Amino acid sequence: MKLKDNLLMRTKACIFDLDGVLVDTAKYHFLAWKRLTGMLKIKFTEKDNERLKGVSRMASLDIILEIGNVTLDDDLKEEYAGLKNKWYVDYITSMTPAEILPGSLEFIRELKGAGIKVALGSASKNTPMIISRVGMENLFDAVADGNIVSKAKPDPEVFLTAAKMLGVPPENCVVFEDAVAGIEAAHNAGMLCVGIGSDKMLKKAGIVVSGLDKMSLNKLREIEKISYHE
Ligand code: BG6
Ligand code: MG
Repeated sequence: MKLKDNLLMRTKACIFDLDGVLVDTAKYHFLAWKRLTGMLKIKFTEKDNERLKGVSRMASLDIILEIGNVTLDDDLKEEYAGLKNKWYVDYITSMTPAEILPGSLEFIRELKGAGIKVALGSASKNTPMIISRVGMENLFDAVADGNIVSKAKPDPEVFLTAAKMLGVPPENCVVFEDAVAGIEAAHNAGMLCVGIGSDKMLKKAGIVVSGLDKMSLNKLREIEKISYHE
């Protein structure tokens, strides 16, 4: 196998998913959905919650209604999604910088120091509130979130938008994702993706690390070596 010549500096931007990669908000989404499913008498487990990772609010509600075999009209769906979000916002309002996942700030600062751009690519409409609560609002060169994109992951829109905002071609971007839908979105965007979490859950990513505390510039370069060969 022959390695491409521009191998070492191929990555010009890293795009981070927010929920589950930089902050652990899955537990708050779970608590809020649990309240709603309790109200609707739908059995909803932590395993079911896995299916909602990376999925937009409305698409998540659709999955939950399918699990419970419940049909609702659009107005009622809007109302319930709004209720779930109200509870979720109550939880995230009290988030603090202590909830940033280990290694995130160190890795992002190392990337920036090496001239690699960093962006957020999240489905969440609550992105501005979360990054402000945890003190990350001035960290990114670009933020693409659920407020500016309309197509949910696995559509690549959110990552392509982030790349465009940064002015970096997709093939020079690496995405960090904890959700299967997000990994597919990165691949659909033509980007390399590093899965964050367990090997078993994220088979599709190809490369998986347990958290950003396992990442560094050197590790990124090793990943480039493994990935960009022909
Ligand atoms: C994703 C989460 O990042 O954002 C999903 O993984 C969530 O669980 C989605 O449904 C949308 O979030 P929000 O904050 O707009 O309801
Ligand atoms: Mg996520």
